[in-house]
Amino acid sequence: MITLFKNPAQIITVDTKGKNYKRGSEMNDIFPLFEHSIVVEDGLIKDFIPNSYVSSKYENEIDLSGRIVLPGLVECHTHTAFAGSRAEEFRLKLKGVDYEEIAKKEGGINKTVTSVREISEEEFYSIVEPRIKYFISQGITTLEIKSGYGLNFENEIKILRLIKKLNDNLPIDIVSTFLGAHTFPKEFKTNHQGYVDEVINRMLPFVAENNLAEFCDVFCEKTAFSINETEQIFEAAAKNNFKLKLHTDQFNSIGGVGIALKYNATSAEHLEVVNSADVEKLASSDTVAVALPGVSFFLGYQFAPARKLIDKDAILALSTDYNPGSSHIANLNFIMSLAALKMKMSIEETISAVTINAAKALNRNHKTGSIEIGKKADFAVFDTNDYADIVYEVGKNLCCMTIKNGNIIHQN
Ligand code: NIG
Ligand code: FE
Repeated sequence: MITLFKNPAQIITVDTKGKNYKRGSEMNDIFPLFEHSIVVEDGLIKDFIPNSYVSSKYENEIDLSGRIVLPGLVECHTHTAFAGSRAEEFRLKLKGVDYEEIAKKEGGINKTVTSVREISEEEFYSIVEPRIKYFISQGITTLEIKSGYGLNFENEIKILRLIKKLNDNLPIDIVSTFLGAHTFPKEFKTNHQGYVDEVINRMLPFVAENNLAEFCDVFCEKTAFSINETEQIFEAAAKNNFKLKLHTDQFNSIGGVGIALKYNATSAEHLEVVNSADVEKLASSDTVAVALPGVSFFLGYQFAPARKLIDKDAILALSTDYNPGSSHIANLNFIMSLAALKMKMSIEETISAVTINAAKALNRNHKTGSIEIGKKADFAVFDTNDYADIVYEVGKNLCCMTIKNGNIIHQN
């Protein structure tokens, strides 16, 4: 089928001239196109035609007058598959107790693990599905979800199967990441190597054989997995053909960036406390630096040096890190505003960071993330005639239509 997406006020193409990512100063070039319509055939972008050439030959036309079209947004780092509430911890946090302190007292990630282990599959599905629909309503057409709240074989698999089912049933692409190494479950509190062995020998091979995840992620941190443990897991993951991601330099800089680069990880994420030497190394690599300013906002501490990373030529992406403990924020548009206000990114840079560069962080950048001929017709349509409003209207959802593979999947 051929569809004409007709007469938008602007098409923010985020064109990469076929390169499929933006590094450093390129992030400012989002290449708006005026007075054009988009021809879509069988879910792919076929052509851009000047409005003055548009005849009435199209069987299907969608009028976008007065609206702005962006590439479908890509949300590249989330922990959306959680159960239970950590509102009690939030109260403690408001009284000044810090995140790592809460985690040590059986709160934090392990509190959510208890809730996930208790919940039935049906109920789990029913609480996670609306969260994904909320992402879709913001113009998100590709979404990553991590496991990491099961922390034993049975429950990690339960989460990954849930993600697979949601991907089958919902109209967006959901990319699954195995994060069995999120923290140590209480059964292995005093036997860390025992848990690493469980991840390597039991979980990873099963997840690989059953195609339950594309990426393997580890939380490399003083209070979680050491450099040595991270390397053991990365070795095994690479042997099982996983692509790699790393949570690193969130609270302490223990050398995670070096490991991410050594294993050619697709992305290194968090980076709130990354040191200057690692900024340089990351910036000159092809590994995407994923900044998560919602965490710094939610926990009240320093932001990742996004400005410095971009100025040094990094490929930088942004994401919510949506989770119940460190960033209970499911609003990507708010994250763009935070990045602009707190990390000194330009509006254009925030757009590149939630489209093409976020797609690169998910290895989907050859198919989506920019409006270029041959790519998927994934669009986010905003009800404004100035794209600056998307970032300037803090916390307000201006998305009025989400289009995936050429089909309208959400409309206000
Ligand atoms: O990305 N850093 C580790 N994991 C999450 C937080 C998870 C939680 O607190 O439930 C993060 O910040
Ligand atoms: Fe995270």
